[in-house]
Amino acid sequence: MAMRRRVGAWVAFGVLVLLASAITATVGWRPFIGPAARPLTDVRFERTPARLERGRYLFEAGAACIGCHSEWDRTRDGHPAKVGAEGAGRTWADEDLPWMTAPNLTPDVETGAGTWTDDMLARAIREGIGHDGRALFPIMPYARFAAMSDEDLASVIVYLRALPAVRNPLPKTAVPFPPGPLINSLPRPITAPVPAPDVSTPERKGEYLVRMAVCADCHTPADARGNKLPGLDFAGGFPLPDAKAGHTVSSVNITPDPSGIPYYDEKLFIQTIRTGRVIARELDDMMPWATYRNLTDDDLKAMFAYLKTLTPVKHTVDNSLPLTPCPVCKTTHGGGDRNTGSPRSLLQWRRN
Ligand code: HEC
Ligand code: HEC
Repeated sequence: MAMRRRVGAWVAFGVLVLLASAITATVGWRPFIGPAARPLTDVRFERTPARLERGRYLFEAGAACIGCHSEWDRTRDGHPAKVGAEGAGRTWADEDLPWMTAPNLTPDVETGAGTWTDDMLARAIREGIGHDGRALFPIMPYARFAAMSDEDLASVIVYLRALPAVRNPLPKTAVPFPPGPLINSLPRPITAPVPAPDVSTPERKGEYLVRMAVCADCHTPADARGNKLPGLDFAGGFPLPDAKAGHTVSSVNITPDPSGIPYYDEKLFIQTIRTGRVIARELDDMMPWATYRNLTDDDLKAMFAYLKTLTPVKHTVDNSLPLTPCPVCKTTHGGGDRNTGSPRSLLQWRRN
């Protein structure tokens, strides 16, 4: 029963991310004529030691590639990637989306990215077009990576090329219908240079880092169609099923509101991300701290500086409390009944 509910929630999410777009004008003819894609170039990013190092950092920490593109080691705290399987891909069966595969990105010729060109990878990462020309399912966070600077993009790709080749045959993603071809409306070609981010203040640097680390993909709740809810940025309530552990946790509110994490200081933030524990309270392994723990102190400090500038949002999400319907984010989560829907959020709901 719980299983069926979970599957239901995810099918609803997966399906509806895109249905939403279907009924807006943005979709147009894309489902029929295919995604917007620019032609491939024969660019080859120069392999430099600086890029290799920066690329490793983004892959293993800053852009969280490793957590989604590697089999988890469930015997270890925080579910880090299995040693020897880094970047070798995995299916999404663990998250109740068994039809989806985050592909093997290692240079294995038969089962990985060995035959893909640098620009195939570049176009996939920032523009959502797979090496085979297909629109990628938006759990691959290309909408956020669109802001990845050209230099960071080159670095990630130089690093991918240097990964040890791992043979790991996996099924291809088979997006069910719906959403099926509706995801064709999501990719956006990038034809102008993407400059280095503004890092003039810790807050601005933190904004870029938080975006690359895709924190909002989990920490901002979505409506029944999968659209992120306006006014609830980083306010939690997004359900994350862990099929193998047999439960669903929700992301929590990380805004400075009293119902969020107002009591955090820089030291507690760094300690939480490094240990997966808020002092004595252990975080669920669905919070990928085992990836983010590899971020430098400086980058974590900048991320925290940015989080402190977020608009405080009143929304209690507490995974230790019983699951109850929530009038604010309209899902069912721990402590849902501690929230009251304001007329404003109801209006926002209707507008969606
Ligand atoms: C939140 C999970 C997640 C993160 C983080 C993530 N990916 Fe993905 N990625 C996926 C999934 C899932 C797919 C498959 C989508 C599909 O098949 O429609 C994918 C697809 C891709 C593809 C397309 C391969 C092809 O078929 O051409 C590339 C390349 C890729 N990812 C690289 C990366 C890199 C590099 C990073 C880090 C900068 C990254 N991904 C971060 C989940 C993720
Ligand atoms: C894959 C989904 C996911 C991503 C991505 C993610 N989180 Fe989380 N996060 C969670 C979940 C789920 C929890 C709640 C865990 C619990 O209640 O045990 C959580 C909890 C937290 C907490 C603890 C809050 C508390 O209860 O005191 C902090 C802080 C946090 N996340 C920050 C971040 C930051 C910063 C990022 C990006 C660098 C991030 N998260 C990315 C899922 C995610």
